[in-house]
Amino acid sequence: MPDHHFYEPKHGHGLKHDPMNAIVGPRPIGWISSIGADGIRNLAPYSFFNLFAYRPPIIGFSSTGWKHSLANIEATGEFVWNLATRDLAEAVNHSSAMVGPEIDEFDLAGVEALPALLVKPDRVAASPVTFECRHTQTLRLEAADGRPIDQWVVFGEVIGVHIDPALLDDGVYRTARARPIVRGGGPDEYFEITEDRLFRMKRPG
Ligand SMILES: Cc1cc2nc3c(=O)[nH]c(=O)nc-3n(C[C@H](O)[C@H](O)[C@H](O)COP(=O)(O)O)c2cc1C
Repeated sequence: MPDHHFYEPKHGHGLKHDPMNAIVGPRPIGWISSIGADGIRNLAPYSFFNLFAYRPPIIGFSSTGWKHSLANIEATGEFVWNLATRDLAEAVNHSSAMVGPEIDEFDLAGVEALPALLVKPDRVAASPVTFECRHTQTLRLEAADGRPIDQWVVFGEVIGVHIDPALLDDGVYRTARARPIVRGGGPDEYFEITEDRLFRMKRPG
């Protein structure tokens, strides 16, 4: 038994399951609504997702292949991010079904919609935080040898923010109160963020 497991991903991980997603996790979820040039509503979760800049706020998600969300955002220049919560977990999962672009994925996921104020795609009504976004860049990723890969990171500036006031305490946003869900490894692992796991640590200096 070696004292640790080393592998070079290009030669395989040598384990029962690829550990990468389980190691880099849990990951926040970008539950992205967009609309096609034909007006059909799309909704899909992306866990290769994060916040990349504060001012202006820029969020991004990474699409494995040229998926409908990316195609819509390229066509219309707009999208909405919806916070994925424990109450909405099943709907988040349903909205990941691989269906044709002609399917309205709000209907598919069984979620009510609300109009956005500044962009065309709808928001998920039951999601307590939503960001209205304008597309800024799409970056095609490259491997270390410079070879372009079929992985596309879509960035957008957050131009409008909706917050359920129940999540604010005296003007301070309480992350755990919405019971956000985050993605773990394997085909089915998620975690729920709860207040009892909170700890505080100030930056040095
Ligand atoms: C929780 C969760 C996270 C996901 N994360 C990603 C991701 O980061 N990138 C990706 O390409 N697909 C991801 N998927 C799969 C997409 O949601 C799925 O391919 C979906 O059909 C894409 O929809 P679209 O083609 O309408 O954009 C994820 C699925 C789930 C359930």
